[in-house]
Amino acid sequence: MRYFIFTDIHGNMEAFSAILRFAKKRKIDHYLFLGDIVGYGASPDAVIDELRTLEPINVIRGNHDKAVCCELESVQTFNPIAASAIHWTRENISPKNLTYLTHLKKGPEIVHKDITICHGSPFDEDYYIFGEFDAAEAFLHIETPLTFFGHTHFPFVYTDIDHLIEGTFLTGNSNEIKIEKGTRYLINPGSVGQPRDRNTRAACAIYDSDAGKISLFRVEYEIEEAQKKILDAGLPSALAERLSIGI
Ligand SMILES: [Fe+2]
Repeated sequence: MRYFIFTDIHGNMEAFSAILRFAKKRKIDHYLFLGDIVGYGASPDAVIDELRTLEPINVIRGNHDKAVCCELESVQTFNPIAASAIHWTRENISPKNLTYLTHLKKGPEIVHKDITICHGSPFDEDYYIFGEFDAAEAFLHIETPLTFFGHTHFPFVYTDIDHLIEGTFLTGNSNEIKIEKGTRYLINPGSVGQPRDRNTRAACAIYDSDAGKISLFRVEYEIEEAQKKILDAGLPSALAERLSIGI
């Protein structure tokens, strides 16, 4: 079975379209989305409409999705630029897609017995896993050999071998992880629509359960078009600028 794993689209339709074109050239059996459909980018409706066409799929909410639909007061914890994008999204999203966000499930969720998906961490959807200490805490809350998470926008793999935790930042445009028996994995594929690792390409991953491997990819997309839409929408210009440096 081949799973396509992606997270943190953040209303960037150009980046989302690029990874979907990439996915559709490969044989994908099941999609896994780890949250943050909206926020930052200028195309929340287009992204949600496209996401809803994918099947079979498991979707969980991210902190930006939750802020837009359900906890507008939580923007006090966001930086001013992120907060203004949340308000813009709330004002511009269609009623039907606002309802869709409202009904999104909160992670973690177990898929096909062996895979956990979560947004921030398995113990708190808003928590950032940044380093082995956080990963060790996360592994305590995981019952499956394989977990995918998002939220940090950095492609990363943590392994747990007999409680020895090791983290690796995955650089470059393609990486492959061979699944070893007795090892547990906690993997962030990186962000589709707002990479922060100074690689401007959209990130995604494929897990081939028969081959026992996970491949992470970075895909080029039309950054200038996404930037133009952000500026035309009147969103903060910093949200456009950051896309061309990948931060
Ligand atoms: Fe995010």
